[in-house]
Amino acid sequence: MMFGLLQAEPVSDTKKGEKAVKILNFGSLNQDYVYRVPHIVVEGETISSFSLDVRPGGKGLNQSVALRKAGAEVYHAGMIGEDGLGLKKLCSDLGINTDFIMTGSVRTGNALIQVDDSGKNSIVLYPGANSEITERMADHVLSHFGPEDLIILQNEVSNIAYIIERAYEKGMKVVLNPSPYNAIIEQCSLDHVSLLILNEVEGEQITGMHTPEEMIEKILGRYPDLEVVLTLGEQGAWYAKCESRVYQPAIKTTAKDTTGAGDTFTGYFVYNYMGKGLDCRESLKISSAAAAIAVGKEGAAPSIPFYEDVIKFLKE
Ligand code: RIB
Repeated sequence: MMFGLLQAEPVSDTKKGEKAVKILNFGSLNQDYVYRVPHIVVEGETISSFSLDVRPGGKGLNQSVALRKAGAEVYHAGMIGEDGLGLKKLCSDLGINTDFIMTGSVRTGNALIQVDDSGKNSIVLYPGANSEITERMADHVLSHFGPEDLIILQNEVSNIAYIIERAYEKGMKVVLNPSPYNAIIEQCSLDHVSLLILNEVEGEQITGMHTPEEMIEKILGRYPDLEVVLTLGEQGAWYAKCESRVYQPAIKTTAKDTTGAGDTFTGYFVYNYMGKGLDCRESLKISSAAAAIAVGKEGAAPSIPFYEDVIKFLKE
């Protein structure tokens, strides 16, 4: 399997004397089977696709790639099968630490992705090895991290509620991207999360509310210490904490494939805001630019830009 679209290029490293924040991403690694279709198939319908591409993906892997390309020191923890060694190599070629990517006995997770002419997608996941993360593995990985480190999780691997608890007990800052939303998210203690990054679909699923304002109010009403980033696709993104609200409009671009744009935004925001310590306004702007570049390219991980390209794009 060829994953030639990602090549190691320089990423912006921490300035001399600055202590880099270690970011642990406990997340999925998927092989994406991407079908280009005239429209997303509907119930009972059979359609032919224009093309099939097999590409690296998984919300976990995509976010590690985005974090790394933004300039972060990233440790990816996850499970693959023997068929997923290309995903591990892709990570290590980019400078992501892969010591905690283990190989199990079941096949690597995969995603069946339909992308239509307007770049919109629909995804069916097969968790595969992503569901093999055990409490024991989590304990082992977390024993290498401490209170000065940050952990990010999505909802595509097993035992995330357990991992959040153990990471919180260690004093790590926890970032949760509750994607995709399902009953497991309800088992996660959001009291122990520092930053919640979600999109409007997850916002509605979690709160039952329909407008961004209502979603934010409901989440902060229940978890007043949380910082929230709510992404709205073409409608931009909100940052919210206590009484403060910051809005970032989306940067308009022609969409080829929106897959992975949210992961690009998340990785860029987490590193710039929590790793580099930029303010939320600046972090939102950089992350929106990174996501705009990503939607203009095909694929999830392969579409994620390097920091230098994001800065160039913003200047243009
Ligand atoms: O967010 C996009 C990702 O979701 C894809 O790469 C796919 O693997 C699914 O996890």
